[in-house]
Amino acid sequence: MEKTMGAIRLRSVALAALLFVCLIFTVSSSVLAQGNESSGIPARSAADYIHSVVTASRAFYAKQVVERLGNEIALRATENWEEENTLPLPAQFLKLSAENSSELGIGLKIRLIGLNPINQENAAVTDLETLGLRGLSKDSDEPFTLMLQKEGTWTFQAIYPDVAISQSCVNCHNEHPNSSKKDYQLGDVIGGILINVPLSNVPLAEKGKVFLVPPQIVSDYIHATLESDRYVYTEHVVKRMAAADIVEAKEFWIDENALPLPDQFLLNTGRLTRGSKMRLNLRLISQWPINFNNSPANEFERNALGMVSDNPLRPYLGRTRRGRTTYFQAVYPDFAVSDACVDCHNSHPKSSRKDHQLDDLMGGMIISFPVKK
Ligand code: HEC
Ligand code: HEC
Repeated sequence: MEKTMGAIRLRSVALAALLFVCLIFTVSSSVLAQGNESSGIPARSAADYIHSVVTASRAFYAKQVVERLGNEIALRATENWEEENTLPLPAQFLKLSAENSSELGIGLKIRLIGLNPINQENAAVTDLETLGLRGLSKDSDEPFTLMLQKEGTWTFQAIYPDVAISQSCVNCHNEHPNSSKKDYQLGDVIGGILINVPLSNVPLAEKGKVFLVPPQIVSDYIHATLESDRYVYTEHVVKRMAAADIVEAKEFWIDENALPLPDQFLLNTGRLTRGSKMRLNLRLISQWPINFNNSPANEFERNALGMVSDNPLRPYLGRTRRGRTTYFQAVYPDFAVSDACVDCHNSHPKSSRKDHQLDDLMGGMIISFPVKK
């Protein structure tokens, strides 16, 4: 008797627990939906932000580094840039940076792919990627998007068209011995930029809805993409060119026919993305700025610099209103990761601090974009 009672009680407890769990589930999924509605970024917008950074830095690199220095000092970009002491091709630059950000372990994956690739590493690896590439149109920027599920986790995938915007794309791809397609024309889709945005723990029932990514994760992805571009530019362009005595990075790079500084590379990428309709803002700030315009502009930015210096592992987050739009803001610490940062800042006549050391905090990188409320 005792035993049966016990069993029944146990069963009703289990039932109650099950009911409770169901309740929590429905409550939390509706809270989740509401909470996300006001605080999350649609996965598609997250991919759009990352895509805009990737293409802005390639455009700046192609125009202000490759094209300008090709004209001014006859420096060339070639496929075997390492052996030939030349600049990496824009496609190689994009690929190096994509590999770097994909290896950070934060889940973000970026790849440059093609149906008739010059390099087989860039071939589509799944049927869906092939389908996506075939579906891209030369007349629209619209990416091919889909949801992937692997081991219970969902990933949002977007493939953006990569179009032959100049005759040089056409000529080089048509004439390349490893290209299996020889009849590209101006405006054709040569391939795609694939971006995978992981969505952790999206309940199955939510499939088909708008998927939202927490804004701090979106800013982590944007930060990783920007950092990778600056890193690739510093390592594979600035340092190599200086070591080979070919050309240096200088503050007044336009007048001096030089390479832009790594900071300027980053800031110009930011300027290009801000110019687009994305409203993605990017700034470098510091308590000890070389350029007075990079001083903290308000209470939030002053606090942020203090906070990231005390706790450099996480960015400092906040929200601000401009007009009728609310912006999410994240400030990431910016460290003196190489001697070059220290030497240049300490010796710069306009720098208000002359004793920076390796690994010191030099300032912060602010990333901001609109969120609902
Ligand atoms: C001077 C030659 C050259 C020019 C100019 C050039 N590419 Fe490429 N492109 C390459 C090479 C080489 C690769 C392979 C890089 C690798 O992964 O090793 C490549 C790769 C690609 C890929 C990945 C698929 C593949 O073919 O491997 C795409 C997409 C692409 N380029 C698009 C473009 C576009 C768009 C332009 C113009 C804006 C352009 N390329 C200009 C040489 C060139
Ligand atoms: C060859 C010189 C040079 C090098 C190398 C350099 N910087 Fe700068 N940095 C500058 C100049 C010049 C500015 C001001 C740019 C502008 O006009 O906004 C600047 C701006 C900054 C700012 C914004 C605040 C300010 O001082 O105006 C930060 C933060 C910063 N750099 C960090 C770094 C870090 C980190 C590195 C190394 C990864 C680095 N810098 C490498 C010259 C350099």
